[in-house]
Amino acid sequence: MITRKITIKKIALLVLAGYFFWDTAALYADSRNSVQRELSKPVVRGGIVFKNYCGMCHGERADGVSRAAKLYGAERLRIKPSAADYYIKIIRGGGKAVGKSEFMPPWNDELSNEQINDVVAYLGIVTDSVRRGEVVFKTNCILCHGIKADGKGRAARLYNPPPADLTKSDKNDDYKTMIITYGGKAMGRSEVMPVWGEQLSTQEIADVVAYLRTILK
Ligand code: HEC
Ligand code: HEC
Repeated sequence: MITRKITIKKIALLVLAGYFFWDTAALYADSRNSVQRELSKPVVRGGIVFKNYCGMCHGERADGVSRAAKLYGAERLRIKPSAADYYIKIIRGGGKAVGKSEFMPPWNDELSNEQINDVVAYLGIVTDSVRRGEVVFKTNCILCHGIKADGKGRAARLYNPPPADLTKSDKNDDYKTMIITYGGKAMGRSEVMPVWGEQLSTQEIADVVAYLRTILK
């Protein structure tokens, strides 16, 4: 009798563990698939082109922070937000093509049309704080807060209190910066909200806060 009871308990536990494992495995498979989907996007391919051909002069984030800054000056090397047409012209023909410095080389012979279009797509994001913030959000926060930031991520139901609905937040930018940098616990909230201060740069946190400002309902 006793052994039977234990067996039933054990089976119940195994089923529970199995369910939990299956559930977690499904979550991981889901995020793996979305990473693969992201990797086939032009902006992501453009980021790779940029890193290989442009980062040494313009800096990985196109902010002019690079080794070449000593030669040309970081402010000159920082790529400002501009229309795609302008980017394409200077990338194809070099600085000369738009009356700028010829230290900006022409890339027509080296890069394919597709690579140039990809790198232009990347520049559209990397020069815009809100769009950079959207990328930070979609890479780090959606498992809990959801793709729409409404608190309905795949993992949301595992937590109580649930991940906040960020489209209805009544907190200001300073508060958001603090809770993102130092985590929920430091702010007297749930410790499930992670500490991001070590993983994300100050700039990335400022960018994600800028993005969150644009999605308020
Ligand atoms: C050898 C260094 C060097 C490399 C490599 C380089 N650039 Fe440049 N680039 C420059 C310089 C210098 C300028 C500034 C020209 C000026 O202001 O007169 C510039 C300007 C630009 C501008 C205009 C920025 C603005 O806001 O007006 C764009 C866009 C640009 N580069 C894109 C690229 C891309 C894309 C690549 C890689 C495919 C690349 N550059 C590689 C040196 C470089
Ligand atoms: C592991 C799940 C998880 C992840 C990943 C996560 N969060 Fe959270 N977050 C939470 C939870 C849970 C809360 C609610 C805490 C509470 O109410 O005590 C929260 C709260 C917040 C708040 C407070 C909002 C308000 O109105 O009070 C902000 C802002 C926030 N998260 C931003 C982010 C950002 C940005 C990221 C990605 C860089 C992120 N979170 C990633 C779980 C998560």
